[in-house]
Amino acid sequence: MENIKVAVIGSGLMGGGIAQACAVAGCEVVNVDIAQAPIDKAQALVDGLMQKKVTKGKMTQGEKDAIMARLTYSTDYAQLRGASFVIEAVPERLDFKRSTFRAVDENADADAVLLTNTSGIDINEIAAATTRPESVLGMHFFYPAPVMKLVELIRAEKTSDEAYAKAREFADAIGKTSVDAPNQAGFIVNRVINMYENMGAALVQEGCTPKDVDTAMRLGCNHPMGPCELMDFAGLERRVRLDDEPVRGLRRRALQALPGHQGHGRRRHPRSQDRQGLLRLLQVASSHSNARPAGSRLPAGTRRETMSNRNFQKRPR
Ligand SMILES: NC(=O)c1ccc[n+]([C@@H]2O[C@H](COP(=O)([O-])OP(=O)(O)OC[C@H]3O[C@@H](n4cnc5c(N)ncnc54)[C@H](O)[C@@H]3O)[C@@H](O)[C@H]2O)c1
Repeated sequence: MENIKVAVIGSGLMGGGIAQACAVAGCEVVNVDIAQAPIDKAQALVDGLMQKKVTKGKMTQGEKDAIMARLTYSTDYAQLRGASFVIEAVPERLDFKRSTFRAVDENADADAVLLTNTSGIDINEIAAATTRPESVLGMHFFYPAPVMKLVELIRAEKTSDEAYAKAREFADAIGKTSVDAPNQAGFIVNRVINMYENMGAALVQEGCTPKDVDTAMRLGCNHPMGPCELMDFAGLERRVRLDDEPVRGLRRRALQALPGHQGHGRRRHPRSQDRQGLLRLLQVASSHSNARPAGSRLPAGTRRETMSNRNFQKRPR
């Protein structure tokens, strides 16, 4: 696959990273957003990351300049013309996805493959917003997109074999390993990770320290991160979004009870650092992990911690 043009819709956390990964792999990329501010932020971020590589001697100035020249930004969907692959990475809401795919349908070339980076919305629902559902499938990247090697490919009911094969070839071309995943919320990785993190939360609820849980999984299973570290790294609010609907409602209420809670975005409220609030969240988690019911003993004089903080105190027994 040579001289591939790729359009990435959304220049946020994922879209900006996907655009970077494609440009580094040699594609010509246009990253489209509805607003200029996220575009400026994404462009500055990529520029800074590439400059760091130049400074460290991992990339020449010429290589950086070539990557930046391949990567353009726009607020105009007309720029989708000529793209063989369109990758949508707008916020995880079905109405946003559908309106975006309607605009993509109006502007993308007839033979373009249309990919959504949704984390769990039914791909059929997204594809149905277009007049060409056979061209639509899921390509789920992982954060940070330029670094993580995996993409999950998710076939919808009407996805054609041709579009699926092209998507797999494209994944290879940008240096990603692809796996076939079912069109079910969470696909493969997030479904398995959910159980891992929930069980970690349940163990903390039962009295283990987050440090012990993480150490056990790192040294006992050679996992690079224990479940508590993983939740801190990705943001506890992400857990809320990944759960199935009934659990999500419960968790959301637990999160909203956290002091200082401002919303659902992980960057607005990156970590749930209040111990009592965290334990309330864990209580919800454990009740959905077949764990023992929550003990109510909380230490007096709680202090702000993250789950994996090394100074996290053992609960008094
Ligand atoms: N954050 C993660 O770790 C992660 C990992 C894998 C997949 N995802 C999925 O990727 C998608 C994007 O997530 P994110 O974290 O990058 O969100 P984000 O909020 O960081 O970025 C979304 C961007 O989309 C833009 N946008 C909104 N509507 C648009 C439109 N109609 N046209 C063009 N741009 C539009 C916004 O201005 C924003 O810049 C979601 O579906 C999410 O579930 C996220």
